[in-house]
Amino acid sequence: MKKKLYIKDLNKFFKKKRILITGHTGFKGIWLSRILRNFGAKIYGFSLKEPSRIKNLKLFNLDKEVVTHYGNIKDKKSFYKYAKKINPHILFHLAAQPLVKESYINPYDTFETNVMGMLNVLEYAKFSNSLRSVVLITSDKCYKNKELSSGYSENSELGGDDPYSASKAAAEILFSSYNVSFFKKKKIGIATARAGNVIGGGDWCKDRIIPDAIKSIINKKKLIIRSPNAVRPWQHVFEPLSGYIKLSYYLYNNKKNNLNQSWNFGPNLEKKVTVLSVIKLVFKYLDIKKKIIIKKNNQIKETLILRLNCSKAKKSLNWQRIWSTSLSIKRTAEWYKTYLEQKNILQVTKKQINDYFKGGI
Ligand SMILES: NC(=O)c1ccc[n+]([C@@H]2O[C@H](COP(=O)([O-])OP(=O)(O)OC[C@H]3O[C@@H](n4cnc5c(N)ncnc54)[C@H](O)[C@@H]3O)[C@@H](O)[C@H]2O)c1
Repeated sequence: MKKKLYIKDLNKFFKKKRILITGHTGFKGIWLSRILRNFGAKIYGFSLKEPSRIKNLKLFNLDKEVVTHYGNIKDKKSFYKYAKKINPHILFHLAAQPLVKESYINPYDTFETNVMGMLNVLEYAKFSNSLRSVVLITSDKCYKNKELSSGYSENSELGGDDPYSASKAAAEILFSSYNVSFFKKKKIGIATARAGNVIGGGDWCKDRIIPDAIKSIINKKKLIIRSPNAVRPWQHVFEPLSGYIKLSYYLYNNKKNNLNQSWNFGPNLEKKVTVLSVIKLVFKYLDIKKKIIIKKNNQIKETLILRLNCSKAKKSLNWQRIWSTSLSIKRTAEWYKTYLEQKNILQVTKKQINDYFKGGI
């Protein structure tokens, strides 16, 4: 069993480490960058130049604290050139086309970004002399969906009925082949991390339920939801991020490479919470009364239940979920409320990070 990591351990470990984060302007990437920057790491980011996400750099006060490179992960040369210049000690790969709906519209871009992008990262890791720890982010959607209520564990069958899920399953198979073929003898800790739907401030993605709700308030539009009864494994973004951080820590010094595997980081299999009840709670915390319009969409296949079995991460990494579903929803609403009221967003951001990490992860 690995030990719990307290802020003092994390400060000591991450201080001055060079960390490359692909997708650092996105929802998960921006929080990961802010957290690791708080622990004293030097953060280098590689992302697309997109205005909606660039605003995150300012909101999280990272426009001056992080070295940002705008490039496309599909472009092998551009990524290698940047990575070689940095010589990172640790790499977190989050850059992806992360949306199911978009994957039906642009399957080429989805596969190129999620699979060839992963290949470019793996190839770089294969030749890098500086890297000691690599965490590759895929998704709970990499599992063949059998509507299991007991939850998917890491050795469950991979699959995917939609292009996004298939691209994440393909990325997992790619990792697995590289791990066996190239990383067994190399002194590098490398692993994939699979998490489910996450919530939290700083998410501006389209077709995600809380960002859509916030945008409906900003744009004074009606909120339309399509799968009111869908049950998601709701968890705050800090939960998988604490898993990624812990994994990167233990991979770094793992001489036997026995952590080079895939890891689930999901919520406990607790009571079922539907999309509709989450939205109602968010509006309650925001103190906003808004009509919710329910429109069923039969063209896109929606997976109704996605649950992860995380016993492996709990047992081997001593990882655990810290915030309950209701606290996660409350903290998310608190962040957006501060944003909507144009109050001190950085203060809330840092307070939420401190609250979560103060008891150790
Ligand atoms: N947010 C969730 O609920 C969730 C759930 C499961 C898995 N994931 C996975 O977590 C990772 C991060 O997701 P997110 O929610 O932060 O997404 P996001 O859309 O908020 O951010 C994506 C990031 O990747 C970058 N990016 C996208 N395409 C790129 C390209 N071609 N080249 C370079 N950069 C590119 C974007 O610029 C952005 O920084 C993804 O791999 C996603 O599939 C997310």
